[in-house]
Amino acid sequence: MSDDRVKIAPSILAADFTRLGADVAEVEKFAPSAGVDRLHIDVMDGMFVPNISFGIPVLKSLAKVTRLPLETHLMIEAPERYLEDFVAAGSTSLLVHVEAAHHLHRTVQRIKSLGVKAGVVLNPATPLTVLEEILPDVDLVLLMTVNPGFGGQKFIRSTLPKVQRLRMMIHEMNIGCELEVDGGVDAQTARDCVSAGADVLVAGSAVFGTVEGIETSLGRLAAAANSGE
Ligand code: DX5
Ligand code: ZN
Repeated sequence: MSDDRVKIAPSILAADFTRLGADVAEVEKFAPSAGVDRLHIDVMDGMFVPNISFGIPVLKSLAKVTRLPLETHLMIEAPERYLEDFVAAGSTSLLVHVEAAHHLHRTVQRIKSLGVKAGVVLNPATPLTVLEEILPDVDLVLLMTVNPGFGGQKFIRSTLPKVQRLRMMIHEMNIGCELEVDGGVDAQTARDCVSAGADVLVAGSAVFGTVEGIETSLGRLAAAANSGE
């Protein structure tokens, strides 16, 4: 398998929590063929976003049963309070919202000093200009293609030009950071995201809980993401 395939990051938010270990094991089984190189873990605090999902105990349990890296998307106010705890629980990268982290540079440096990858996340209405000073320091930028807080929302198409502009910024600055998109990504929208410049796709409901099951859903998403190449 070539390394230039689009990477897929299944979000366990849409998994069946009564059988989370089994769902994750199934994703792991088909990960090599689908280009899955990480799990995406959505942590929500009921403050930064209206919803509450799960936290550190779930990460700890997951870390015991999977070898996939655990990319942790912190949708929480003042995420700097919990960086050490999430790394101790097994997170392999921490993604913080620029809207929630008051001292972003310090937070990014702290994440890296803990030995994990650092990513920053932008809501749909947050302009790319906030990235100008921090972009050289981060391993990944995650652009939300829905407003964060819930799985299964409709993809916001007006975010696509923003993906394009960020791809240009990364190119012009000649840096190696990943460009990931999150929200409403499925077999219909995946290719548009990739054409605009995304190299990592988060997908929750398009992977878990479909009638076709995880193997078929992952295969379809990977095929759509890599079509036309
Ligand atoms: C939304 C989360 C997403 C969510 C995506 O706030 O950040 O990661 O799980 O779910 P889908 O793929 O169903 O839109
Ligand atoms: Zn997410």
